[in-house]
Amino acid sequence: MYRSHFGLSRHPFAKDIPADELFVAQAQKELEVRFGHLINLRGIGLFTGDSGSGKTTVGRKVVASLHSGLHRVFYVPNSTGNVMDLYKSIAWEMGLPTERSRAALYRAIRTEVTRLDVEAHLQPLLVIDEAHHLRSDVLEELRLLTNYDMDSQNRLCLVFVGHSELRRRVGMAVHEALNQRIIVRHHLGGLLRDELPLYLTHLLRRAGTELPLFEPAALEAIYQASAGLPRKVNSFAHHALNAAAIAHAKAVTAEHVQAAAPEVG
Ligand SMILES: Nc1ncnc2c1ncn2[C@@H]1O[C@H](COP(=O)(O)OP(=O)(O)OP(=O)(O)O)[C@@H](O)[C@H]1O
Ligand SMILES: [Mg+2]
Repeated sequence: MYRSHFGLSRHPFAKDIPADELFVAQAQKELEVRFGHLINLRGIGLFTGDSGSGKTTVGRKVVASLHSGLHRVFYVPNSTGNVMDLYKSIAWEMGLPTERSRAALYRAIRTEVTRLDVEAHLQPLLVIDEAHHLRSDVLEELRLLTNYDMDSQNRLCLVFVGHSELRRRVGMAVHEALNQRIIVRHHLGGLLRDELPLYLTHLLRRAGTELPLFEPAALEAIYQASAGLPRKVNSFAHHALNAAAIAHAKAVTAEHVQAAAPEVG
């Protein structure tokens, strides 16, 4: 409802911002660089961060930047379930038949990875998002998927993306073999304090206004409440704009941010 009050041409906090129109946050840029580095090295990577820090967004940006003539990306967003479920998801992503035994699926996936790499010269990249949901046996199976020619070849680049607890889990003794093979790991933090006004200005500009809609005290309140996590920032900013519009205010104050808190949850 605040769109007409503030003269916005579209919703500022959409989830589908094109990769080249995203705000360039320092921490996300760093993750992007490491992600690119991992792709060059073709190994196993572990990228963690709090919910809403922007991991999937960065992944989307990196994938969008890859040349389709050089890479083939398989994205598995749902990592609950057993090994069979995971193999089916990967096979589905690869366009392989899924109605097979576990051993046949495993072989088919490996054959496809080898075909892509050796014959098609397309580097396969498997991204497992929400990987903190993976069961321990499934984590280990994924490691085995990256073992080619008696562990002498890196054919498959495997990326685990998940919440902070994934780091702790992978560090447990039972995952030592996997842990040792992780060649790039990075933890994504939120926006820096100085970046918050720039982030909101960027999103509001995309929505059609150059006006400073947030008072400095409101920005501080949003930062305190969100720890700079973009999804939380969006949520506080959205509800605070709503509160300001209901009050017919010209700009969002710290009180509007406080009024928004119960709605954010
Ligand atoms: N650089 C950015 N520019 C604009 N919006 C962003 C940016 N980064 C994150 N966002 C916003 O924050 C939201 C949350 O980001 P994202 O879904 O990538 O977080 P996540 O770390 O994957 O969270 P989860 O762990 O819950 O999956 C996005 O939907 C988007 O609206
Ligand atoms: Mg995500």
